Amino acid sequence: MSLKSKIHSENLPKHIAIIMDGNGRWAKEKGFLRVFGHENGTKSVKTTVESCAELGIENLTLYAFSTENWNRPKLEVKTLMQLLISSLKKEMNTLQKNSIRLNAIGNLEHLPARVRKELLHVIDETKNNTRMTLTLALSYGSRDELVNATKQICDKVKNNIISVENIDETLINQHLYTQNLPDVDLLIRTSGEKRISNFLLWQIAYAELYFTDVYWPDFTNENLYEAIINYQKRERRFGKTSEQLH
Ligand code: FPP
Repeated sequence: MSLKSKIHSENLPKHIAIIMDGNGRWAKEKGFLRVFGHENGTKSVKTTVESCAELGIENLTLYAFSTENWNRPKLEVKTLMQLLISSLKKEMNTLQKNSIRLNAIGNLEHLPARVRKELLHVIDETKNNTRMTLTLALSYGSRDELVNATKQICDKVKNNIISVENIDETLINQHLYTQNLPDVDLLIRTSGEKRISNFLLWQIAYAELYFTDVYWPDFTNENLYEAIINYQKRERRFGKTSEQLH
């Protein structure tokens, strides 16, 4: 029995988020420069995006570049930005063919103009696609997102648009970069590290966490299926007791 056929289509996570980690170690262990790992990481991005769309996952969010990643060596940052541009250009057809809508979260103002231009172009071209929303977290940090939301809300209070009593979870949600996305159901991190690294802290409140030792460039469809099968075996209680659920 293939792994894929063990997935129950009625209990799919609505939102999968992935911390794509291990590109650098993958390359280093093979005696290559770190950037070679990122290059190979783009292949896993493509297969994962296509597999998620095929399975019927409605939302996939990938941590492609964090606010902290700006501190990496200049060459690495430059290569990552170039890879983004080339992947966006190359994969526009894949997105259209699979009816995938591209979305981006993060401090996009910080991105080089060339990246922003290509990104906004693909977002616009794919805006009517309905099968899956692919969100790239770029120059993204969850604390930055929460600071940004807090400032916007304070501004509205100051200008009497809302009152303090109006502040609730829904309102905070509406001021996050992820305002149109559902909460994360399944968070996957590759490479053996077991950290969240400032990714979607608010949105993963009730997510199931899945860690695999596989480095991101080696992450295959089978690894994705394993993660989903593992997710489907878990009982999600959202604070309730097991008896209340059954
Ligand atoms: C983490 O590995 C990975 C990144 C910081 C970048 C992820 C980028 C890609 C997969 C390629 C471009 C993305 C898209 C969406 C086209 P690491 O460098 O931290 O690995 P290490 O922990 O082994 O050093």
